[in-house]
Amino acid sequence: MSFENKTVLVTGGTSGIGRASAERFAAAGATVVISGRDEARGQEVVAAIESAGGKARFVSAELSTPGAAQQLAQTAGAVDVLVNNAAIFPFGPTHELPLDQVRAMFEVNVTAPFALVAALVPAMIAKGSGAIVNVSTMVASLGLPGLSAYGASKAALELLTKVWAAEYSPQGVRVNAVAPGPTRTPGTVAMGDGLDQLAATLPMARPASAQEIANTIFFLASDEASFVTGAVLPVDGGRSAV
Ligand SMILES: NC(=O)c1ccc[n+]([C@@H]2O[C@H](COP(=O)([O-])OP(=O)(O)OC[C@H]3O[C@@H](n4cnc5c(N)ncnc54)[C@H](OP(=O)(O)O)[C@@H]3O)[C@@H](O)[C@H]2O)c1
Repeated sequence: MSFENKTVLVTGGTSGIGRASAERFAAAGATVVISGRDEARGQEVVAAIESAGGKARFVSAELSTPGAAQQLAQTAGAVDVLVNNAAIFPFGPTHELPLDQVRAMFEVNVTAPFALVAALVPAMIAKGSGAIVNVSTMVASLGLPGLSAYGASKAALELLTKVWAAEYSPQGVRVNAVAPGPTRTPGTVAMGDGLDQLAATLPMARPASAQEIANTIFFLASDEASFVTGAVLPVDGGRSAV
């Protein structure tokens, strides 16, 4: 499946699932725009993609800052594919989570994707085609202790996925989400053994690799998924099935 002459914006493309997705799209010929906060990490990913023969550029964006998503959309310009991947995931019991962290989480995980879609979908509509893939989580549908605000933010993103599919599919823009299970990334290193313990509850009893999630994101953005819209696809080793 070729993405030649297509531009793909991957938020949080400097690490983990976002990086693996950016590399997957670039390998298929896309020009990839990746965002993140860490300039050095961003330039390292761009260099890695370019050294593999791909095309990429980095745009710095702190998405917890109101207005940053609109600025990112403006700098990125028109895109064919938007992957709303950047997120923050502070853990803790509800009564111990500082409200400023909760607000920042909703800004990055919900408001920024909302603003990016609002800014980028008009050009997709004008073109009559486009694909948006939102990165949710299996814990958007499970009541796991310590993940109240994070799960709620991703549940909001899943609902937005369905609403955006209803709003924009008639104009040729497909909107889907993936709901990954525990995945080994730089972002989950801090969980230590917790990642493997959570993974042990899956029928497949192991964490995913970032590439396994990226493959599914790539599929949903590609023409191979031409009749798929409004779907939230579990990529969770079977956890949501049991
Ligand atoms: N890993 C898992 O087990 C798992 C499971 C289910 C769902 N997910 C979802 O998958 C996505 C990626 O997770 P990951 O594990 O790959 O995370 P990761 O390795 O921590 O990468 C997160 C990315 O988001 C960017 N980012 C973080 N905070 C940001 C902010 N305030 N403003 C702008 N960019 C920000 C980071 O870049 P900078 O650090 O440069 O800002 C980085 O590129 C997230 O949506 C997460 O909720 C992950």
